[in-house]
Amino acid sequence: MKVIVCQEFGSFENIVIEDWPEPNPGPDQICVAPMAWGLNYVDVIMIGGTYQLRPELPFVPGGEAAGKIIAIGKNIDEFNVGDRVMTSHRPGAFAERVVASSENVIRMPSSMPFEEAAGFRAAFATAYHGLVQGGRIQAGETALIHGATGGMGLAAVQVAKQLGATVIATGSNDDKLTSVKEYGADYTLNHKDGLRSQVKALTNGQGVDVVFDPVGGDLFDESMRCIAMGARLVVVGFTAGRAAQVKTNHLLIKCASVIGIRAGSNARRNPEVARGNMKTLLNWATDGRIRTPISHRFPFHQVKAGLRVIADRDVIGKAILYREN
Ligand SMILES: NC(=O)c1ccc[n+]([C@@H]2O[C@H](COP(=O)([O-])OP(=O)(O)OC[C@H]3O[C@@H](n4cnc5c(N)ncnc54)[C@H](OP(=O)(O)O)[C@@H]3O)[C@@H](O)[C@H]2O)c1
Repeated sequence: MKVIVCQEFGSFENIVIEDWPEPNPGPDQICVAPMAWGLNYVDVIMIGGTYQLRPELPFVPGGEAAGKIIAIGKNIDEFNVGDRVMTSHRPGAFAERVVASSENVIRMPSSMPFEEAAGFRAAFATAYHGLVQGGRIQAGETALIHGATGGMGLAAVQVAKQLGATVIATGSNDDKLTSVKEYGADYTLNHKDGLRSQVKALTNGQGVDVVFDPVGGDLFDESMRCIAMGARLVVVGFTAGRAAQVKTNHLLIKCASVIGIRAGSNARRNPEVARGNMKTLLNWATDGRIRTPISHRFPFHQVKAGLRVIADRDVIGKAILYREN
């Protein structure tokens, strides 16, 4: 089978495709033939060696895939060969055959295409966990979603709308922001034009109740000046390249809280909560209320082109790899 391999930390332009023997599932594992793979910003920084998790070299990158089960370990009885499933990996997804333990395998809704399933789990699980358990968002509140043109952010826009919030979505590219409106954002704004003044104007001077922030850096600092009393600021990531320093006097004045969230860690520490989150998300997807936003599709062997659109900030929502035969 073909496998994408990172042999050294650095540019994703150096990853290679190798032929490896096909894996056999262990007694508690499931073997899947992916039809599509989700690409994430995390793949770029994990290959770069700057992500919090540095796998032992060489490693197979990739956090998520979707395909059909082709073999099952003897201790597994909740799945069958042929089931259409999405899988998650830490890492290891970018291969023509993958193995995963059953808690990392989820049956797909029958109406969901493989490409949408491959890009669903990381984005929507992070968005839901961030807004619900992290931000404790309530219907009628206003959410400021940063990085709304990206995978996590565009999922968060949709989840916040389903939860009854008013959504202000931000980015730095007007063309990309036009697409964000199509996914339900009430307002979009370019933060390069001044975040605070625009948010204050849109909220009658009140500020927002929840901030969902995959960007960090200066944008987080500015967000502290756009919040309502009792606001919750959810730290999701640092695409700006800098973690912010929280001014605790601002928190005190606004009775606000800052909450870091990690969807993967939540799934390991609170599996029941994570399963409940995913059940809600899959119901919404089945009803057509949310969908994986995909702007770029590439065949498996063009993985570098896929990672490039993420690194170059060309992607809107998700980029996906698909199986060619
Ligand atoms: N906490 C968790 O559980 C969890 C889970 C998954 C991912 N993450 C993190 O979430 C973050 C986003 O991941 P993603 O997959 O959504 O990435 P993505 O699809 O590449 O989107 C990145 C977003 O960040 C913005 N952005 C990129 N560089 C920026 C910069 N220098 N300054 C300001 N904005 C910038 C982009 O907006 P414009 O280009 O439109 O300005 C885009 O909307 C990453 O840090 C990732 O590690 C966290």
